[in-house]
Amino acid sequence: MKHEIVITAPGHKGTLERLQNEFSAIKLWEAPDRDAALKAAAPRLRALAHFGNARVDGKLMDALPKLELISNFGVGVDQIDLDAARQRDIIVTNTPDVLNECVADCAMSLVLNTLRKLPQAENWLRSGYWATRGPYPLTTSLGGKTLGVLGLGRIGEAIAKRATAFGMRIRYHNRSKKNVPYPYDANPVALAKNSDVLMVVTPGGAGTARLVNAAVLDALGPEGYLVNVARGSVVDEPVLLRYLQEGRIAGAGLDVFANEPDVPAAFYALDNAVLYPHVASATVETRKAMGDLQVENLHLHFAGKPVKTPVT
Ligand code: NAP
Ligand code: 8YV
Repeated sequence: MKHEIVITAPGHKGTLERLQNEFSAIKLWEAPDRDAALKAAAPRLRALAHFGNARVDGKLMDALPKLELISNFGVGVDQIDLDAARQRDIIVTNTPDVLNECVADCAMSLVLNTLRKLPQAENWLRSGYWATRGPYPLTTSLGGKTLGVLGLGRIGEAIAKRATAFGMRIRYHNRSKKNVPYPYDANPVALAKNSDVLMVVTPGGAGTARLVNAAVLDALGPEGYLVNVARGSVVDEPVLLRYLQEGRIAGAGLDVFANEPDVPAAFYALDNAVLYPHVASATVETRKAMGDLQVENLHLHFAGKPVKTPVT
């Protein structure tokens, strides 16, 4: 007999297919009456598969009193109330490591595209300006510049490795110093002051909300660039927008936004910003690996074994 799970939201196609084939799955977003669907499942339901940025809060956990596991698709779990899960002895799992390389590739592409303005240069050609106005204006090189990594964790280290190969110097700030060959700065303002490019790759959530604020952007300065592949919540978005409009920082490369998928339209008009629709892990290979890990955690738990990637 297949174990019963609730899937909270639509997500990666191949993973959804696996979840529906290998479990008896209730698709919450398709239920005509969500509360009634939860109530019907409550007496038996032990596991939930989560996709996307909808909140998984104590109220949802209370609606499923037999819940033992929340298996998230994605490494970031800022949308899940971890304290509420802990209080109820619910295990939360995520999908770390399998996405490091793709996210780091994408972060590096944001550094390249933001400093070298390659999307804007391509638009110049496509608009016919190369022939009518001449060469695209000169941009800024990466080599010799300092990349400050705010959040030198699994992904941050993969980014640092790549940036080193591009001839960049690396510095970092975490809450705790690590045994790495890069200089440490005691806080985000000091890191921004010492960096040409500030790379944000911390987790999201309350602990990092608006960590990159006006003081950090002032320290980065008019020659400095911000790249954010973490979460939109880590940056004070209205302040960032104003600083870009006023040229108070040189530019920004953003894969994440405060209220996805709604991006303030004023960002579209900026020539000094490169904007991606949260695609850092979005390759066929990586999304499959993330889904496989999400599914594996569910199977392990139902088999009475320890899950592979618990969030601690
Ligand atoms: P990780 O290994 O846990 O690394 C996070 C790093 O952030 C740690 O080194 C941690 O060090 C540091 N950190 C945490 N809180 C901090 C704070 N308040 N101030 C400064 N540093 C802090 O996580 P990861 O696997 O690299 O993933 C990082 C995040 O990237 C995810 O949580 C997710 O939000 C984001 N992400 C985005 C995408 C995308 O598609 N754009 C894809 C994957 C992941 P300390 O604990 O010592 O502070
Ligand atoms: C995904 C991510 O885009 O893993 C994360 O934390 O942000 C990305 O890999 C997201 O999880 C898909 O919902």
